[in-house]
Amino acid sequence: MKIASIIGTRPQFIKYGALSKELQKAHSDILIHTGQHYDYQMNSVFFEQLGISEPDYNLGVGSGTHDFQVAEMLKGISDIFRAHNPDMIMLYGDTNSTLAGALAAVQLHIKAAHVEAGLRGFDKSTVEEVNRVVADYCSDLLFCPTQTAVLNLRRENITRGVYLTGDVMVDELNLSKEIAEKSYILENLGLTDRQYLLVTVHRSFNTDNRQSLENIVTALKALGEMGENIVFPVHPRTEKILKDFRLYDGLRERCRLLEPQGYFEFLKLMNHAKKILTDSGGVQKEAYILRVPCITFRENTEWVETVEDGWNILVGTDVNKIIKTARSNELSNKYFNYFGTGACKKIAQIIDKEEAALSG
Ligand code: UD1
Ligand code: UDP
Repeated sequence: MKIASIIGTRPQFIKYGALSKELQKAHSDILIHTGQHYDYQMNSVFFEQLGISEPDYNLGVGSGTHDFQVAEMLKGISDIFRAHNPDMIMLYGDTNSTLAGALAAVQLHIKAAHVEAGLRGFDKSTVEEVNRVVADYCSDLLFCPTQTAVLNLRRENITRGVYLTGDVMVDELNLSKEIAEKSYILENLGLTDRQYLLVTVHRSFNTDNRQSLENIVTALKALGEMGENIVFPVHPRTEKILKDFRLYDGLRERCRLLEPQGYFEFLKLMNHAKKILTDSGGVQKEAYILRVPCITFRENTEWVETVEDGWNILVGTDVNKIIKTARSNELSNKYFNYFGTGACKKIAQIIDKEEAALSG
């Protein structure tokens, strides 16, 4: 089958990394990079580390308002679809690149498959929630990472083409864990096992709201003053806004602010952290899989299982809650394999069957 895959952001490179290796065994793949992420540490480093080949197309859309990004991507992707007439479009996650790919597929009547289908945070004010709902609605094959995702779709009367496959990020993590352990990032930063807090922040509901970002910074500075060793690879969005709000220099006095890390380095940092503080979707899930306690700067999450099992605590941007949970020594002893294993193989098998059905 002739597949076209749409990716554009850091987490999509990671999801595509594992799955593409399975899909390419039996199918041709046109790789379309929207150019949404472009800095070396947000982009090329993942292609190099995960052995992803150069994209066939890079639309170079870059940064801008949502309407600019989606419009430019939609035009570029549609032109490529018209030129190549693919049999199936692969969509990943819930970014603007996902939305543009979904719209292009449905408008040109091409079958679409959504990896990470069915996730819901039930908060329409976040752009990711809207992107994932639209992507699911436009898709013919819906690959759900969890049983909860299947149930979410059922509640919306979406039952055709829905498959519980498990999560492709588990596969990438398992493929990469050994090599990540060989990284010298801890030694280079003078860090020791379980003696530091690892932080990431980039979601717009935190960065674009001055009070929320100030609260997070206040809590991190207080934790630093209490003697916590804090390591914070800063997403470019967040770096820019921290500087605009004049919060960057004060934060730097109490935390190790780093450039965004490559996947192997970040995986090692996660695996040895005492706790992870984040608003990322993927990082919440990886923390659970690695059994590292997670504190999430959100009021809700699409990864509800991590919260139910006590590994993840939602604290929003409440300064006292952030400090209290970061200092607490309570640990969960519950663990269930909610995210499965072998998702990439399962997805590839389903696509193989689709091809057989199409040609039969
Ligand atoms: C996007 C996704 C978000 C995902 C995140 C993963 C949308 C709406 N959001 O958010 O769901 O969690 O990617 O990291 O699709 N920038 C750079 N260099 C880069 C990329 C971005 O400097 O290589 C800066 C620019 O100032 C840009 C800002 O970061 O304006 C935001 O980038 P953008 O791609 O719009 O959204 P993310 O915050 O990265
Ligand atoms: N990640 C990384 N380097 C970093 C921060 C995150 O490699 O400095 C990885 C992380 O392990 C996870 C993915 O990026 O696999 C998550 O991406 P991000 O937090 O940007 O987006 P989200 O998952 O929130 O959409």
